[in-house]
Amino acid sequence: MTSSADLIEASERRSAHNYHPLPVVIHEAHGAWVTDVEGKRYLDFLSGYSSLNFGHGNQKIVEAAQEQLKNLTLTSRAFYHDQFARFCAGLGDLTGKDMILPMNTGAEAVETAIKVARKWGYQVKGVEPEQADIIVMEDNFHGRTTTIVSFSTDPDARGDFGPYTPGFTVVKYGSAEAVRTAIGPNTVAVLVEPIQGEAGVLVPPDGYLAQLREICTENNVLMIADEIQSGLGRTGKTFACDHEGVVPDVYVLGKALGGGVVPVSAIAANEDVLGVIKPGQHGSTFGGNPLACAVGNAVIDLLNTGEFQERAARLGDVLHARLRELIGDGVVTVRGRGLWAGVDVDPSLATGREVSKALLARGVLAKDTHGSTIRLAPPIVISEEDLLWAVDQLADAIASFR
Ligand SMILES: Cc1ncc(COP(=O)(O)O)c(C=O)c1O
Repeated sequence: MTSSADLIEASERRSAHNYHPLPVVIHEAHGAWVTDVEGKRYLDFLSGYSSLNFGHGNQKIVEAAQEQLKNLTLTSRAFYHDQFARFCAGLGDLTGKDMILPMNTGAEAVETAIKVARKWGYQVKGVEPEQADIIVMEDNFHGRTTTIVSFSTDPDARGDFGPYTPGFTVVKYGSAEAVRTAIGPNTVAVLVEPIQGEAGVLVPPDGYLAQLREICTENNVLMIADEIQSGLGRTGKTFACDHEGVVPDVYVLGKALGGGVVPVSAIAANEDVLGVIKPGQHGSTFGGNPLACAVGNAVIDLLNTGEFQERAARLGDVLHARLRELIGDGVVTVRGRGLWAGVDVDPSLATGREVSKALLARGVLAKDTHGSTIRLAPPIVISEEDLLWAVDQLADAIASFR
Protein backbone atom coordinates (compact mmCIF):
# COMPACT_ATOMS: atom_id res chain seq x y z
CA MET A 1 0.00 0.00 0.00
CA THR A 2 1.21 3.52 -0.77
CA SER A 3 2.46 5.33 2.34
CA SER A 4 0.76 8.37 3.92
CA ALA A 5 3.78 10.48 3.04
CA ASP A 6 3.59 9.54 -0.65
CA LEU A 7 -0.16 10.16 -0.81
CA ILE A 8 0.20 13.54 0.89
CA GLU A 9 2.98 14.56 -1.47
CA ALA A 10 0.97 13.42 -4.51
CA SER A 11 -2.16 15.21 -3.25
CA GLU A 12 -0.29 18.46 -2.71
CA ARG A 13 1.40 18.26 -6.10
CA ARG A 14 -1.79 18.04 -8.14
CA SER A 15 -4.40 19.87 -6.06
CA ALA A 16 -5.02 23.57 -5.50
CA HIS A 17 -3.78 24.58 -2.08
CA ASN A 18 -7.11 25.95 -0.90
CA TYR A 19 -6.89 23.84 2.28
CA HIS A 20 -4.07 23.11 4.69
CA PRO A 21 -4.92 19.57 5.87
CA LEU A 22 -3.34 17.89 8.85
CA PRO A 23 -0.91 15.18 7.76
CA VAL A 24 -3.16 12.11 7.99
CA VAL A 25 -4.58 10.04 5.13
CA ILE A 26 -7.86 8.43 6.12
CA HIS A 27 -8.87 5.13 4.62
CA GLU A 28 -11.96 4.04 6.52
CA ALA A 29 -14.23 5.08 9.37
CA HIS A 30 -16.99 3.71 11.59
CA GLY A 31 -18.91 5.58 14.25
CA ALA A 32 -16.56 8.06 15.89
CA TRP A 33 -13.33 6.35 14.82
CA VAL A 34 -11.33 6.62 11.61
CA THR A 35 -8.37 4.54 10.42
CA ASP A 36 -5.54 5.84 8.24
CA VAL A 37 -3.83 4.03 5.36
CA GLU A 38 -1.22 2.65 7.73
CA GLY A 39 -3.84 1.20 10.09
CA LYS A 40 -3.52 3.82 12.86
CA ARG A 41 -6.84 4.73 14.50
CA TYR A 42 -7.98 8.23 15.44
CA LEU A 43 -11.01 9.55 17.26
CA ASP A 44 -12.82 12.03 15.03
CA PHE A 45 -13.39 15.25 16.96
CA LEU A 46 -14.32 17.34 13.92
CA SER A 47 -17.09 15.29 12.26
CA GLY A 48 -16.57 16.94 8.87
CA TYR A 49 -17.41 20.31 10.47
CA SER A 50 -20.64 18.82 11.90
CA SER A 51 -21.57 16.87 8.76
CA LEU A 52 -21.14 13.56 10.57
CA ASN A 53 -23.41 14.18 13.56
CA PHE A 54 -24.77 10.62 13.30
CA GLY A 55 -21.32 9.03 12.98
CA HIS A 56 -19.36 7.56 10.11
CA GLY A 57 -21.21 4.81 8.27
CA ASN A 58 -24.39 5.19 10.31
CA GLN A 59 -26.22 1.95 9.55
CA LYS A 60 -29.66 3.45 8.95
CA ILE A 61 -28.30 6.17 6.69
CA VAL A 62 -26.03 3.84 4.72
CA GLU A 63 -28.84 1.29 4.29
CA ALA A 64 -31.16 4.00 2.98
CA ALA A 65 -28.46 5.12 0.52
CA GLN A 66 -27.73 1.55 -0.62
CA GLU A 67 -31.40 0.82 -1.14
CA GLN A 68 -31.82 4.02 -3.14
CA LEU A 69 -28.69 3.34 -5.23
CA LYS A 70 -30.36 0.17 -6.49
CA ASN A 71 -33.50 1.97 -7.60
CA LEU A 72 -32.98 5.53 -8.75
CA THR A 73 -30.26 8.13 -8.25
CA LEU A 74 -31.06 11.12 -10.45
CA THR A 75 -34.00 12.52 -12.33
CA SER A 76 -33.33 16.27 -12.21
CA ARG A 77 -36.28 18.38 -11.13
CA ALA A 78 -37.73 18.12 -14.64
CA PHE A 79 -39.72 15.18 -13.23
CA TYR A 80 -41.06 14.11 -9.85
CA HIS A 81 -39.57 11.14 -8.04
CA ASP A 82 -40.89 9.02 -5.23
CA GLN A 83 -38.54 10.26 -2.44
CA PHE A 84 -39.22 13.97 -2.94
CA ALA A 85 -42.63 14.44 -1.32
CA ARG A 86 -41.55 12.58 1.80
CA PHE A 87 -38.37 14.65 2.10
CA CYS A 88 -40.22 17.96 1.83
CA ALA A 89 -42.98 16.89 4.23
CA GLY A 90 -40.48 15.40 6.70
CA LEU A 91 -38.19 18.44 6.74
CA GLY A 92 -41.20 20.75 6.72
CA ASP A 93 -42.55 19.00 9.83
CA LEU A 94 -39.14 19.00 11.54
CA THR A 95 -38.79 22.76 11.00
CA GLY A 96 -42.50 23.54 11.38
CA LYS A 97 -42.50 25.22 7.97
CA ASP A 98 -44.81 24.89 4.96
CA MET A 99 -42.22 24.58 2.22
CA ILE A 100 -38.73 23.31 1.41
CA LEU A 101 -36.32 24.32 -1.33
CA PRO A 102 -33.58 21.68 -1.60
CA MET A 103 -30.07 22.41 -2.84
CA ASN A 104 -26.72 20.63 -2.33
CA THR A 105 -24.09 22.59 -0.46
CA GLY A 106 -24.43 24.98 2.42
CA ALA A 107 -23.32 27.98 0.38
CA GLU A 108 -26.01 27.24 -2.19
CA ALA A 109 -28.65 27.16 0.52
CA VAL A 110 -27.42 30.51 1.87
CA GLU A 111 -27.53 31.96 -1.66
CA THR A 112 -31.07 30.60 -1.93
CA ALA A 113 -32.09 32.34 1.29
CA ILE A 114 -30.57 35.62 0.04
CA LYS A 115 -32.43 35.40 -3.28
CA VAL A 116 -35.72 34.51 -1.58
CA ALA A 117 -35.34 37.37 0.92
CA ARG A 118 -34.65 39.88 -1.85
CA LYS A 119 -37.60 38.72 -3.96
CA TRP A 120 -39.83 38.74 -0.88
CA GLY A 121 -38.60 42.27 -0.17
CA TYR A 122 -39.60 43.55 -3.61
CA GLN A 123 -42.79 41.58 -4.09
CA VAL A 124 -44.26 41.41 -0.59
CA LYS A 125 -42.65 44.15 1.51
CA GLY A 126 -42.60 46.65 -1.36
CA VAL A 127 -38.92 47.66 -1.25
CA GLU A 128 -37.83 49.91 -4.16
CA PRO A 129 -36.20 47.98 -7.04
CA GLU A 130 -32.49 47.14 -6.52
CA GLN A 131 -32.47 48.59 -3.00
CA ALA A 132 -32.89 45.47 -0.83
CA ASP A 133 -30.46 45.26 2.08
CA ILE A 134 -29.61 42.29 4.31
CA ILE A 135 -28.05 42.73 7.75
CA VAL A 136 -25.23 40.27 8.45
CA MET A 137 -22.82 39.82 11.34
CA GLU A 138 -19.12 40.50 11.84
CA ASP A 139 -17.00 37.34 11.72
CA ASN A 140 -19.78 35.48 9.92
CA PHE A 141 -19.13 32.35 7.92
CA HIS A 142 -21.80 31.41 5.39
CA GLY A 143 -19.74 29.84 2.59
CA ARG A 144 -17.43 30.71 -0.27
CA THR A 145 -19.42 32.02 -3.24
CA THR A 146 -18.69 35.49 -4.59
CA THR A 147 -21.82 37.01 -3.07
CA ILE A 148 -21.24 35.38 0.32
CA VAL A 149 -17.58 36.39 0.55
CA SER A 150 -18.68 39.92 -0.39
CA PHE A 151 -20.05 40.31 3.15
CA SER A 152 -17.36 38.33 4.93
CA THR A 153 -15.15 40.24 7.37
CA ASP A 154 -12.34 37.67 7.10
CA PRO A 155 -9.58 39.08 4.84
CA ASP A 156 -8.56 35.56 3.72
CA ALA A 157 -12.10 34.69 2.65
CA ARG A 158 -12.74 38.05 0.95
CA GLY A 159 -9.44 39.51 -0.23
CA ASP A 160 -8.96 39.99 -3.98
CA PHE A 161 -12.28 38.38 -4.89
CA GLY A 162 -14.03 41.63 -5.78
CA PRO A 163 -15.89 43.34 -7.29
CA TYR A 164 -18.20 42.57 -4.41
CA THR A 165 -21.96 42.07 -4.39
CA PRO A 166 -23.68 45.07 -2.79
CA GLY A 167 -26.76 44.95 -0.56
CA PHE A 168 -25.34 43.90 2.82
CA THR A 169 -24.81 45.79 6.07
CA VAL A 170 -22.40 44.27 8.57
CA VAL A 171 -23.04 44.74 12.32
CA LYS A 172 -21.45 43.42 15.50
CA TYR A 173 -22.43 39.84 16.37
CA GLY A 174 -24.22 39.52 19.69
CA SER A 175 -25.64 43.06 19.78
CA ALA A 176 -29.39 43.19 19.12
CA GLU A 177 -29.18 46.98 19.44
CA ALA A 178 -26.73 47.10 16.52
CA VAL A 179 -29.31 45.29 14.38
CA ARG A 180 -32.12 47.58 15.53
CA THR A 181 -30.05 50.65 14.61
CA ALA A 182 -29.03 49.25 11.21
CA ILE A 183 -32.58 48.44 10.08
CA GLY A 184 -33.92 50.83 7.47
CA PRO A 185 -36.87 50.87 5.07
CA ASN A 186 -34.97 48.69 2.58
CA THR A 187 -33.94 46.00 5.05
CA VAL A 188 -35.40 42.68 3.95
CA ALA A 189 -33.63 40.24 6.24
CA VAL A 190 -31.24 39.62 9.12
CA LEU A 191 -28.93 36.68 8.41
CA VAL A 192 -27.43 35.13 11.54
CA GLU A 193 -25.61 32.03 12.73
CA PRO A 194 -27.26 31.17 16.09
CA ILE A 195 -23.76 30.14 17.18
CA GLN A 196 -20.82 31.28 15.03
CA GLY A 197 -18.93 28.09 14.17
CA GLU A 198 -15.96 29.11 12.05
CA ALA A 199 -15.41 32.20 14.20
CA GLY A 200 -14.57 29.83 17.08
CA VAL A 201 -17.91 28.46 18.33
CA LEU A 202 -19.02 31.87 19.60
CA VAL A 203 -22.25 31.69 21.61
CA PRO A 204 -24.09 35.03 21.63
CA PRO A 205 -25.39 36.52 24.90
CA ASP A 206 -28.56 34.96 26.35
CA GLY A 207 -31.66 36.51 24.86
CA TYR A 208 -29.90 37.71 21.69
CA LEU A 209 -31.80 35.45 19.31
CA ALA A 210 -35.12 36.19 21.00
CA GLN A 211 -34.41 39.92 20.69
CA LEU A 212 -33.52 39.53 17.01
CA ARG A 213 -36.78 37.65 16.51
CA GLU A 214 -38.71 40.50 18.12
CA ILE A 215 -36.88 43.21 16.14
CA CYS A 216 -37.45 41.36 12.85
CA THR A 217 -41.15 40.92 13.56
CA GLU A 218 -41.60 44.57 14.61
CA ASN A 219 -39.91 45.81 11.43
CA ASN A 220 -41.33 43.33 8.91
CA VAL A 221 -37.89 41.90 8.25
CA LEU A 222 -37.15 38.20 7.72
CA MET A 223 -35.06 36.44 10.33
CA ILE A 224 -32.84 33.93 8.53
CA ALA A 225 -31.04 31.43 10.78
CA ASP A 226 -28.05 29.71 9.19
CA GLU A 227 -28.22 26.42 11.10
CA ILE A 228 -25.93 24.63 8.66
CA GLN A 229 -23.35 23.89 11.35
CA SER A 230 -25.37 24.49 14.53
CA GLY A 231 -28.49 22.55 13.56
CA LEU A 232 -29.66 18.94 13.49
CA GLY A 233 -28.82 17.84 17.00
CA ARG A 234 -25.31 19.24 17.47
CA THR A 235 -26.16 21.62 20.33
CA GLY A 236 -28.50 19.28 22.22
CA LYS A 237 -31.64 20.50 20.45
CA THR A 238 -32.81 20.03 16.88
CA PHE A 239 -31.91 23.67 16.13
CA ALA A 240 -29.70 26.04 18.10
CA CYS A 241 -32.56 28.58 17.90
CA ASP A 242 -34.62 26.16 20.04
CA HIS A 243 -32.50 27.06 23.08
CA GLU A 244 -34.26 30.44 23.11
CA GLY A 245 -37.60 29.16 21.84
CA VAL A 246 -37.02 31.16 18.66
CA VAL A 247 -38.50 30.25 15.30
CA PRO A 248 -36.83 32.12 12.43
CA ASP A 249 -38.68 32.89 9.21
CA VAL A 250 -36.13 30.91 7.22
CA TYR A 251 -34.00 27.97 8.34
CA VAL A 252 -30.87 27.33 6.29
CA LEU A 253 -29.71 23.72 6.61
CA GLY A 254 -26.91 21.58 5.21
CA LYS A 255 -23.98 19.48 6.41
CA ALA A 256 -25.54 16.77 8.67
CA LEU A 257 -28.68 16.74 6.50
CA GLY A 258 -26.60 14.66 4.08
CA GLY A 259 -25.77 12.15 6.82
CA GLY A 260 -22.07 12.29 5.91
CA VAL A 261 -22.92 10.49 2.67
CA VAL A 262 -23.91 13.07 0.05
CA PRO A 263 -24.20 16.86 0.04
CA VAL A 264 -27.76 17.83 0.93
CA SER A 265 -28.88 21.34 1.83
CA ALA A 266 -32.20 23.13 1.94
CA ILE A 267 -34.04 26.16 3.13
CA ALA A 268 -37.34 25.87 4.97
CA ALA A 269 -39.90 28.67 5.19
CA ASN A 270 -43.60 29.32 5.09
CA GLU A 271 -45.52 29.81 1.88
CA ASP A 272 -45.82 33.59 2.33
CA VAL A 273 -42.01 33.71 1.99
CA LEU A 274 -40.91 30.74 -0.12
CA GLY A 275 -43.98 31.03 -2.32
CA VAL A 276 -42.34 34.01 -4.07
CA ILE A 277 -40.12 31.62 -6.06
CA LYS A 278 -41.70 30.53 -9.34
CA PRO A 279 -40.54 28.06 -12.03
CA GLY A 280 -37.31 29.10 -13.69
CA GLN A 281 -36.26 31.52 -10.96
CA HIS A 282 -34.01 29.27 -8.90
CA GLY A 283 -32.82 25.67 -8.80
CA SER A 284 -30.05 23.15 -9.19
CA THR A 285 -29.67 20.05 -11.37
CA PHE A 286 -28.78 17.96 -8.33
CA GLY A 287 -30.83 19.67 -5.61
CA GLY A 288 -33.49 17.34 -4.24
CA ASN A 289 -32.23 14.31 -6.18
CA PRO A 290 -33.54 10.85 -5.20
CA LEU A 291 -30.35 9.71 -3.46
CA ALA A 292 -30.08 12.97 -1.52
CA CYS A 293 -33.74 12.78 -0.49
CA ALA A 294 -33.47 9.12 0.59
CA VAL A 295 -30.45 9.98 2.74
CA GLY A 296 -32.19 13.12 4.05
CA ASN A 297 -35.24 11.04 4.92
CA ALA A 298 -33.11 8.67 6.99
CA VAL A 299 -31.53 11.66 8.78
CA ILE A 300 -34.95 13.16 9.52
CA ASP A 301 -36.13 9.78 10.90
CA LEU A 302 -33.13 9.72 13.25
CA LEU A 303 -33.83 13.26 14.44
CA ASN A 304 -37.50 12.48 14.97
CA THR A 305 -36.55 9.93 17.64
CA GLY A 306 -35.08 12.79 19.74
CA GLU A 307 -32.32 10.39 20.77
CA PHE A 308 -29.47 12.37 19.21
CA GLN A 309 -30.57 15.71 20.61
CA GLU A 310 -30.81 14.17 24.09
CA ARG A 311 -27.44 12.46 23.74
CA ALA A 312 -25.71 15.63 22.52
CA ALA A 313 -27.15 17.53 25.49
CA ARG A 314 -26.08 14.88 28.03
CA LEU A 315 -22.61 14.27 26.61
CA GLY A 316 -22.24 18.00 25.98
CA ASP A 317 -22.55 18.60 29.72
CA VAL A 318 -19.85 16.00 30.33
CA LEU A 319 -17.58 17.54 27.66
CA HIS A 320 -17.94 21.11 28.90
CA ALA A 321 -17.50 20.17 32.57
CA ARG A 322 -14.26 18.37 31.74
CA LEU A 323 -13.01 21.14 29.41
CA ARG A 324 -13.68 23.77 32.08
CA GLU A 325 -11.27 21.92 34.38
CA LEU A 326 -8.50 22.77 31.90
CA ILE A 327 -9.02 26.52 32.26
CA GLY A 328 -5.88 27.99 33.81
CA ASP A 329 -3.94 24.91 32.74
CA GLY A 330 -2.99 26.18 29.30
CA VAL A 331 -6.61 26.87 28.35
CA VAL A 332 -7.85 30.45 28.50
CA THR A 333 -11.57 29.99 27.75
CA VAL A 334 -14.03 27.35 26.64
CA ARG A 335 -17.28 28.11 24.83
CA GLY A 336 -20.02 26.17 23.15
CA ARG A 337 -23.21 24.24 23.57
CA GLY A 338 -23.95 20.53 23.44
CA LEU A 339 -21.27 18.48 21.70
CA TRP A 340 -19.65 21.56 20.26
CA ALA A 341 -16.84 23.54 21.84
CA GLY A 342 -14.31 26.22 21.02
CA VAL A 343 -11.23 26.01 23.21
CA ASP A 344 -8.89 29.01 23.34
CA VAL A 345 -5.41 27.78 24.14
CA ASP A 346 -2.97 30.22 25.75
CA PRO A 347 -1.38 31.76 22.63
CA SER A 348 1.98 32.06 24.39
CA LEU A 349 2.09 28.24 24.53
CA ALA A 350 1.17 27.20 20.99
CA THR A 351 -0.88 28.00 17.91
CA GLY A 352 -4.11 26.13 17.27
CA ARG A 353 -2.40 24.27 14.45
CA GLU A 354 0.45 23.15 16.70
CA VAL A 355 -2.08 21.86 19.25
CA SER A 356 -4.05 20.11 16.47
CA LYS A 357 -0.85 18.38 15.33
CA ALA A 358 -0.05 17.33 18.89
CA LEU A 359 -3.58 15.94 19.16
CA LEU A 360 -3.12 14.07 15.89
CA ALA A 361 0.01 12.46 17.29
CA ARG A 362 -2.12 11.34 20.27
CA GLY A 363 -4.86 9.84 18.07
CA VAL A 364 -7.44 12.64 18.02
CA LEU A 365 -8.57 14.55 14.92
CA ALA A 366 -9.47 18.17 15.60
CA LYS A 367 -8.90 21.42 13.76
CA ASP A 368 -7.85 24.88 14.72
CA THR A 369 -9.67 28.04 13.72
CA HIS A 370 -8.27 31.57 13.97
CA GLY A 371 -5.06 31.68 15.98
CA SER A 372 -5.09 29.53 19.08
CA THR A 373 -8.67 28.25 19.05
CA ILE A 374 -9.39 24.54 18.70
CA ARG A 375 -12.83 23.52 17.56
CA LEU A 376 -14.26 20.30 18.98
CA ALA A 377 -17.31 18.60 17.47
CA PRO A 378 -17.30 14.81 17.86
CA PRO A 379 -19.99 12.67 16.24
CA ILE A 380 -23.00 12.48 18.57
CA VAL A 381 -22.68 8.66 18.62
CA ILE A 382 -19.37 8.95 20.53
CA SER A 383 -19.17 7.05 23.83
CA GLU A 384 -18.64 8.92 27.09
CA GLU A 385 -15.43 7.00 27.66
CA ASP A 386 -14.01 8.03 24.27
CA LEU A 387 -15.10 11.62 24.86
CA LEU A 388 -13.22 11.84 28.14
CA TRP A 389 -10.20 10.06 26.68
CA ALA A 390 -10.01 12.69 23.92
CA VAL A 391 -10.10 15.54 26.47
CA ASP A 392 -7.27 13.81 28.35
CA GLN A 393 -5.32 13.81 25.08
CA LEU A 394 -6.03 17.53 24.71
CA ALA A 395 -4.77 18.20 28.23
CA ASP A 396 -1.66 16.14 27.49
CA ALA A 397 -1.11 17.85 24.13
CA ILE A 398 -1.30 21.30 25.73
CA ALA A 399 0.97 20.21 28.59
CA SER A 400 3.58 19.14 26.04
CA PHE A 401 4.13 22.81 25.09
CA ARG A 402 4.99 23.94 28.63
C1 LIG B 1 -22.75 28.32 9.22
C2 LIG B 1 -22.28 27.85 7.87
N1 LIG B 1 -22.92 28.29 6.77
C3 LIG B 1 -22.54 27.89 5.55
C4 LIG B 1 -21.49 27.04 5.36
C5 LIG B 1 -21.07 26.62 3.97
O1 LIG B 1 -21.38 25.30 3.72
P1 LIG B 1 -20.68 24.52 2.50
O2 LIG B 1 -19.24 24.38 2.83
O3 LIG B 1 -21.40 23.21 2.42
O4 LIG B 1 -20.91 25.36 1.29
C6 LIG B 1 -20.78 26.57 6.48
C7 LIG B 1 -19.61 25.68 6.32
O5 LIG B 1 -18.78 25.52 7.17
C8 LIG B 1 -21.20 27.00 7.76
O6 LIG B 1 -20.55 26.60 8.87
